[in-house]
Amino acid sequence: MSGVRKISMIGAGNVGATAGQKIAERNIADEVVFVDVVEGLPQGRALDMYESAPVEGFNTSVKGTNDFSEIAGSDIIVVTAGLARKPGMTRSDLLDKNAAIMTTVSENIRTHAPESIVIVVTNPMDIMTYLVYRKTAFPKNRVVGMAGVLDTSRFRTFVAMELGTIPSQVTGFVLGGHGPSMVPVISNSSVGGVPLTQLLSAQKIDEIVKRTRMGGDEIVNYLKTGSAFYAPASSIFEMVQSIALDERKILPCSAYIDGEYGIRDIYTGVPVLLGRKGAEKILELKIEKSELDALNSSADAVRKDIELLKDHKFL
Ligand code: LAC
Repeated sequence: MSGVRKISMIGAGNVGATAGQKIAERNIADEVVFVDVVEGLPQGRALDMYESAPVEGFNTSVKGTNDFSEIAGSDIIVVTAGLARKPGMTRSDLLDKNAAIMTTVSENIRTHAPESIVIVVTNPMDIMTYLVYRKTAFPKNRVVGMAGVLDTSRFRTFVAMELGTIPSQVTGFVLGGHGPSMVPVISNSSVGGVPLTQLLSAQKIDEIVKRTRMGGDEIVNYLKTGSAFYAPASSIFEMVQSIALDERKILPCSAYIDGEYGIRDIYTGVPVLLGRKGAEKILELKIEKSELDALNSSADAVRKDIELLKDHKFL
């Protein structure tokens, strides 16, 4: 497969724009459309990006608009719209404001692009993905959230920094909610095929796990005016490409859980086979008891925030 016809990016901030740029440059769609409510922002970013096409040598057309109806015909939609964190804020602090934005976004997706596959990135991500799933009423395979690839990428980088090797040698899998309760699955982590537990002490691994859990905060604390976007954009791109090219990669994504791992009716990070039909399959890994317990307490944290959506009348 050589890609899809149209990919829309809802939100033309740093995450959406950087992800859209990768999508355009790698020629996996005929058209990338940026939609944002801020006047001039999607138009300016899109035109600027398209003006790089002759030099970069890509053929994807890039367009920006404030008009939601221009997402019509999208194969894939990436939602990054909403507020990002500032220092001292948790992802859950964004819940009310971003839930209102997700409600409008979902209505527009349902109206204008009813056949699309939606990747939600807006924080608190698992909760916003659940909301978009419910509000669009799309089948569960067509709504998926991005965070596991990002959290895993951070984990892999930290392991590589510790060992002095290249990050791509390191494999890992971070499951659970995208928050401090996320679960790096050490039993599935290796470097060049060698189990991580044979390369690093338990204490070192524990330090890396803690740093991974606070990986987003570490960047927010440096930047002060916003949150991370390079690694999030790369992570979005990996998911978009797996769908657009039907690569069917197994990636940690936030997916609708309906009994897997003994968890029900929430979105949380699990290994997903991601292909042209979206989240085609959730894989139930054999993980250690302590990891399963951690996954369950992470699910409880997500469930608490989903209850808030109901208390605040978003559902
Ligand atoms: C982070 C934000 C995007 O983890 O949640 O950087």
